[in-house]
Amino acid sequence: MKSKEFLTGVFSRNAPAYRERLEEAMRKGQAAGRDAILDYLKPRPGMRILDLACGPGTLTIPIAKDLNGGGEVIGIDLAEGMLAVARQAAGGRSLPVRFLRMDIENLQFPAATFDAVSCGHGLHFLPNLGRALREVRRVMKPKARFAASIPPSDGPDPSPAVDAFRKAIDKRLGTAPGQPELAETRAILSDLDRFAAAALAAGFRFAETERVEVETSWDGPGHYAAVNSSWWAFAARLEGLSEHVRQMVVDEGADAVRQVTGDAPFLAPAAAHVLRAEA
Ligand SMILES: C[S@@+](CC[C@H](N)C(=O)[O-])C[C@H]1O[C@@H](n2cnc3c(N)ncnc32)[C@H](O)[C@@H]1O
Repeated sequence: MKSKEFLTGVFSRNAPAYRERLEEAMRKGQAAGRDAILDYLKPRPGMRILDLACGPGTLTIPIAKDLNGGGEVIGIDLAEGMLAVARQAAGGRSLPVRFLRMDIENLQFPAATFDAVSCGHGLHFLPNLGRALREVRRVMKPKARFAASIPPSDGPDPSPAVDAFRKAIDKRLGTAPGQPELAETRAILSDLDRFAAAALAAGFRFAETERVEVETSWDGPGHYAAVNSSWWAFAARLEGLSEHVRQMVVDEGADAVRQVTGDAPFLAPAAAHVLRAEA
């Protein structure tokens, strides 16, 4: 199956758990990449903003609140399940927000429509990164800002606890499904210089990239395992199992984390690559 269909299905089916995980990270100020995006775009009333790969509204909803009744933010995503959760999360608050099903590689907007564009942890799912960046540039007004974050995939995880969880799940269920279509995109985004160069090649007149780091905090191994089993690479392997077996595998993952951390609360380092660009 093509990566787009496969990932859209996994994200759709696991959208409520994904929203809970990101809500917790945002609330604790531990989603450094997403926070860097909001800092750079500075949403304010009157702006027209596009949020790419919006998921359950992780960035769309905070942006809509900043617009404070003037202007509009449009969140786009391919996963209907994510869009449904996003609409529900925004519902009843009369926020200036709309959610549409759309592919980043084929944006259905006229040229020079938006004052700013955001993309939290979405670019690494795009088989044709160059086409997507050109599309983003096309729909931006002159001097509009674009900010994007991605999780770098550059070698072993810096946290022994995270590493232990991953190895336990891999041992029981096999490694995460490979995404050969995404290999080139991920190689570019994991290299800060190539990431910035890709934005310049797509027509942005300014682009810089930065690695941002943060300590994420966990109440203990059980909390870590329960929350992180909604990450797509784990969710894709856990979702076919009966509830009983699923819980057994997640508990085994928690035990593996416990070997490293004991039962106590612990911190785990995490990082993101952030692009700041101007049209
Ligand atoms: C890791 S989630 C990020 C969600 C949200 N932006 C955040 O920061 O939490 C990635 C999202 O990208 C979406 N996605 C993947 N490929 C896409 C594409 N080609 N066009 C639009 N959305 C896409 C997925 O459906 C998923 O909701």
